[in-house]
Amino acid sequence: MKVEIVKFDNLGRGIGYINDKIIFIPKSVPGDIVEAEITKESNKFYEGKIIKIITPSKQRKEAICPYFSLCGGCDLLHISLSDALEYKLNKVNELLKKNKIDYKVNKIIKSDEQYNYRNKVSLKIENGIIGYYENNTHKIIQIDYCYLGSKVINEIIKNLDNLQIKNGSITIRCNSKEELLFIINSDDTLENIDWFINNYRVVGIIQNDKCIYGDDYFIMNISNYLFKVSYNSFFQINPYICEKLLNYVHEYTKDSKNIIDLYCGVGSLTIASANQDNKGFGVEIVENAIKDAKLNQNFNHVTNAQFICADTKDVTNKITSDYDTIILDPPRSGVHPKVINKIINENINKIIYISCDANTLVRDLKLFENKYEIEEFILFDMFPNTYHVESLCILKLH
Ligand SMILES: C[S@@+](CC[C@H](N)C(=O)[O-])C[C@H]1O[C@@H](n2cnc3c(N)ncnc32)[C@H](O)[C@@H]1O
Repeated sequence: MKVEIVKFDNLGRGIGYINDKIIFIPKSVPGDIVEAEITKESNKFYEGKIIKIITPSKQRKEAICPYFSLCGGCDLLHISLSDALEYKLNKVNELLKKNKIDYKVNKIIKSDEQYNYRNKVSLKIENGIIGYYENNTHKIIQIDYCYLGSKVINEIIKNLDNLQIKNGSITIRCNSKEELLFIINSDDTLENIDWFINNYRVVGIIQNDKCIYGDDYFIMNISNYLFKVSYNSFFQINPYICEKLLNYVHEYTKDSKNIIDLYCGVGSLTIASANQDNKGFGVEIVENAIKDAKLNQNFNHVTNAQFICADTKDVTNKITSDYDTIILDPPRSGVHPKVINKIINENINKIIYISCDANTLVRDLKLFENKYEIEEFILFDMFPNTYHVESLCILKLH
């Protein structure tokens, strides 16, 4: 049936209506008139897919990637970068307005690279087919190039079938020196490992959580910082934005004397906020990441930080009024309400909240709103060509 797309939703899908009932259509653009097929129906909405574009929107551009129409990896390759940045600003502002938070975000920091920015790519493998899942399915789209992945990761993807993995998954991580870690989940015997080692700077291969070649970590060099990152430690996937984010956090903590960094990963933000006069304390749930963080403070000549491995919600007793600044950089699920309550009760002066999910960020801002006001709110285009956006929000006690 024929559908006119009127706007984007917050997952980057086009929205249209069929007899007043809403339909979400991935890869459509506001202004498109499309022939669509319904793929899912519920009481309140339809989901659909494009069968044919009858009249393309003026906003639509040719997607650079041949897999775009089916692949679930990107959402916004078919609009310009400036339109995508505007979409991200509008999306966050609409969320704030809907939740009655009186603040308008005006600033979005661009990534220096729009393509080939990701230092980590994860692929599925089924019956020897390597790729990403198709939009909203568990069907694999075979790919041999990903415009989001760094150039060296794409070199590996192109040759990946040499490893002869039949079923499982592989994550390829790289640093700025093009050193590579392969993290494989599969019971298959890996073939031709030597070919990869001889042709690329493979520093480690980990299969089913066991290091079978080299090291189970590499060193990330971002700006003037060095970070050891174990194969299962989190690290920001866009190094261009990561550098800018570290600089912002450094600026916003210049006057802080005692900083607690929850969800600290390998300690990058604790370290970026350290100076000779202050103290830092980081909490992180992944054991390897905390081991990395302890080493990373030495690598970066930081002497006054401490790190513990714990679930933040189990160590709320560590959140005290001794701290004047708290950094929160949680996973998509946001900050645990127990943690938020403790921060509020302890009257910590400044909160630096970094979020990769605007929905949970806004949910948490509502909980802080009686006690804190938004001093600054900046978006970072950490994930170009996708609907995702990173936020940095500075909250000050009323
Ligand atoms: C978005 S990352 C941020 C890491 C770090 N701040 C950085 O910039 O690299 C979130 C981190 O929170 C950790 N994490 C997830 N749930 C946690 C929990 N309940 N308690 C402590 N850390 C947690 C993850 O392992 C991950 O390292």
